Amino acid sequence: MIKPENFITDRASVAINALYGADMDKSALQVQVTRKEFEGDYTLVVFPLLKVSKSTPENTGKAIGEWLMANCPEISAYNVVKGFLNISFSTVYWNGIFSWIASAEDFGQHEPTGKTIMVEFSSPNTNKPLHLGHIRNNLLGWSVSKLLEANGHKVLKVNLVNDRGIHICKSMLAWLKKGNGETPESSGKKGDHLVGDYYVAFNDMYKAEVDELVAGGMSKEEAEKNAPSLKEAQEMLYRWEHGDKEVVDLWKKMNGWVYEGFDKTYSDLGISFDRTYYESQTYLFGKALVQKGLDMGIFERETDGSVWCDLTADGLDRKLLLRGDGTSVYITQDLGTAEQRFEEYSLDEHIYVVGNEQNYHFQVLKLILKKLGFAWADSIYHLSYGMVELPQGKMKSREGTVVDADDLIEKMYNTAKETSLELGKLENMDEKEQDELFRMIGLGALKYFIIKVDPKKTMLFDPKESIDFNGNTGPFIQYTHARIKSILRKAAASGIGYGPESVNPEVALSPKEVRIIKILNQFPDKIAEGGEAHSPAIIANYAYDLAKEFNQYYHDTPVLKEEDRALLCCRLVLVDCIAKVLVKAMSILGISLPERM
Ligand code: ARG
Repeated sequence: MIKPENFITDRASVAINALYGADMDKSALQVQVTRKEFEGDYTLVVFPLLKVSKSTPENTGKAIGEWLMANCPEISAYNVVKGFLNISFSTVYWNGIFSWIASAEDFGQHEPTGKTIMVEFSSPNTNKPLHLGHIRNNLLGWSVSKLLEANGHKVLKVNLVNDRGIHICKSMLAWLKKGNGETPESSGKKGDHLVGDYYVAFNDMYKAEVDELVAGGMSKEEAEKNAPSLKEAQEMLYRWEHGDKEVVDLWKKMNGWVYEGFDKTYSDLGISFDRTYYESQTYLFGKALVQKGLDMGIFERETDGSVWCDLTADGLDRKLLLRGDGTSVYITQDLGTAEQRFEEYSLDEHIYVVGNEQNYHFQVLKLILKKLGFAWADSIYHLSYGMVELPQGKMKSREGTVVDADDLIEKMYNTAKETSLELGKLENMDEKEQDELFRMIGLGALKYFIIKVDPKKTMLFDPKESIDFNGNTGPFIQYTHARIKSILRKAAASGIGYGPESVNPEVALSPKEVRIIKILNQFPDKIAEGGEAHSPAIIANYAYDLAKEFNQYYHDTPVLKEEDRALLCCRLVLVDCIAKVLVKAMSILGISLPERM
């Protein structure tokens, strides 16, 4: 099936040849969707043609419009406004598009491109559980991956666990001092929560020490550097990097608890990875690159042994790459991890889904990799996103008032349950089915509400609003799908058979139906546009528009009441196509749609 835009450029170039005896390169012809204020489906921009027509924009537009009307049965009307030729397609044409959509195997899916894209997301530290910010991260990472797959790319979804560093040592130290051997089994706590509690305990301990030193006359700044527990944590990190068995064993044990906890959260959220990288296994590659940079003369070593990269000539700062005691910092591992990944898979693009507080970090990372001579550094894309807040106020991770991911997922289930029971929309389901539905609605609400917002924007997540069955929400789209499925079930129960073959050019489509076909027809382009922009929000809002369109249509057109069998079948195919596009669009967002609700 050729796209309407291409259909027009094709025929217009024939018209230009017939009218003016000139060969116009098709790529020089500009076609766009007609703006709402004008009559028409697509618009051909006439200005570039004036050099061959040697006439006014008005007359050129008219001549081509007339030619198209006389020679293309697919075109039903035209009008010219200034230098724009607005063209309308006939219902016969839209019927053809409809038939193409109805018979497509996986409508919207693009052909394989042969490109490989790595998407890194989630990437937690192991000193505390996942929070609301990680939820936005995970949902974005997952949906961008699915969106790129729908564009025909091969996608590798990877996680990077920052499993080493001073932050983990802090949790470990507090556990040693105050834990009395507590384990997830002994306490019944999820492992990541248990370790997170000791991170909070460390901070309490540390603060008390700082206060005491300040009370004893030390300046705050000095006290913050010299508090004994911080010194101990630093010593622990040093021992870890030197393979001290006792420290390494404790580290393994506590990280193991954390991974069990993370796995549960990921599975509750419905996400998974093709591969997980651990900083502890890649930071040494980073150290090797630091050495390489020193050898190349692009890094410098200070007298205290620390290594730096001076980026001031590029308008950035001097960046620390290795501490004086030789231990590595956050960016050290990123250098090594990037090299490892590009070497192992020949990546066409590497996307990092990380919050906007790290914009600078990724700017620096790219620049240093370039200085190290890696051409692929330009294929790195930082998919940066803004903070999510709950109505009550900001999440503050260090103070222990984080919005915990597990708590939020649970809360969504409960809110979905409450709302559904209130509305009584449960069509005699047994308990197991109800339970599945509440989970689907709760997660659908959470995912949709977060993904529909442009990633760059800071956003407020309101659980109650996200579940509103009548708003721009996941549950509204889920409900629309269930509604269509109920129509199709009723048709099947009355023995009405329909399929792509029910669509034929003789059936007279209403303007509303033509409108729906046009919207369905945009789906592959929306996928392309969303992929280009790395923005699943485009798919979310498209799905909402389509669902809204169906509800209006169904309100005016009670599909099953139609007496003309051919028309009835055609309409069933149309609503079936809507359901299929909704399923595909929502699956890109990681949202399941129920058969009934
Ligand atoms: N673990 C880091 C944090 O929680 C994020 C890691 C992002 N990924 C990366 N390759 N640097 O802040």
